[in-house]
Amino acid sequence: MRPAMRVVSGIQPTGNLHLGNYLGAIVSWVKMQEEGECLFFLADLHAISMPYEPAELASATREMTAALIASGIDPDKAVLFNQSRVPAHAELQWLLCGTARIGWLNRMTQFKDKSGKNREGASIALFAYPVLQAADVLLYRATHVPVGEDQKQHLELARDIAEKFNFDTGTETFTLPEPYIGETAARIMSLRNGSAKMSKSDPSDMSRINLADDADTIAKKIRKARTDPEPLPESLDELNDRPEAKNLVAIFAALEQVAPQAILDRFAGKGFGDFKPALADATVATLAPISERFNALREDTDALDAILEKGAERAKALGTPVLADAYRALGLLSGR
Ligand code: TRP
Repeated sequence: MRPAMRVVSGIQPTGNLHLGNYLGAIVSWVKMQEEGECLFFLADLHAISMPYEPAELASATREMTAALIASGIDPDKAVLFNQSRVPAHAELQWLLCGTARIGWLNRMTQFKDKSGKNREGASIALFAYPVLQAADVLLYRATHVPVGEDQKQHLELARDIAEKFNFDTGTETFTLPEPYIGETAARIMSLRNGSAKMSKSDPSDMSRINLADDADTIAKKIRKARTDPEPLPESLDELNDRPEAKNLVAIFAALEQVAPQAILDRFAGKGFGDFKPALADATVATLAPISERFNALREDTDALDAILEKGAERAKALGTPVLADAYRALGLLSGR
């Protein structure tokens, strides 16, 4: 019997995982695995759509896998794998390229953002990125896909492709995935600039807290985080023009899994001299066990590869019949 909810989600493998990755996507994945059947993958095929370092991709993929497991993803519960190890993703993408329209892809804002002024020099992979993303979810007949603001358009496209494919072939090959509405994931900003996302590519290491940082480093980074001289206010509205203060409150709230207002209720009227040490303690309390597991696991290449191999086998078993249906619906004599 099909489970009531099958969630599929991917994350691009990047080295140097930080608090923004953790409080953004990863925490919500950990919750999701209790709520339905989940397939989580490292989107390494997506990673080649932008300039990147081939020598670093495999280790970034393993690092991300270690970080996910250290953060609480249970590879016996969720199906955890890397995309390139399941060739059906790439195969289905090609089949879907017959259905997807150039006009649809031309409207994708991510392509416009990432290609910038150099549209002509962008890779075909960057242009076709959303078709691969559609293949990722349609391959497993996902019922739900968690979507942040920046991914809504991609899910819409996956639905459009599924609908047109089914219509054109007169079949019901694909399930139309719904957005999974969880709590909105925290958007964590740089510790040096409250208007820029916390990012592994920021040249200043002081701008982010890495999953691999030890307690002293975390405390130092929070102590030096940019703030303003005002005490913390009573209401969230009063933080609107104080992006650095707002970010620290958001981090605190996400760590404690409470609303930001609950943090203000605790600290209203107090200055950052009181707030920052408390925030550092909360950060260390959450990250210490994770970074301990992460630092142990990231060295264990064999264990990580075995986990990814097993996840890929489970994913193949789920995706292969759907891929075969797609070949058949298109009249291809593939023998699948
Ligand atoms: N594009 C997504 C991101 O950058 C990652 C991704 C790839 C994804 N395939 C997916 C997310 C399928 C959800 C479902 O965040």
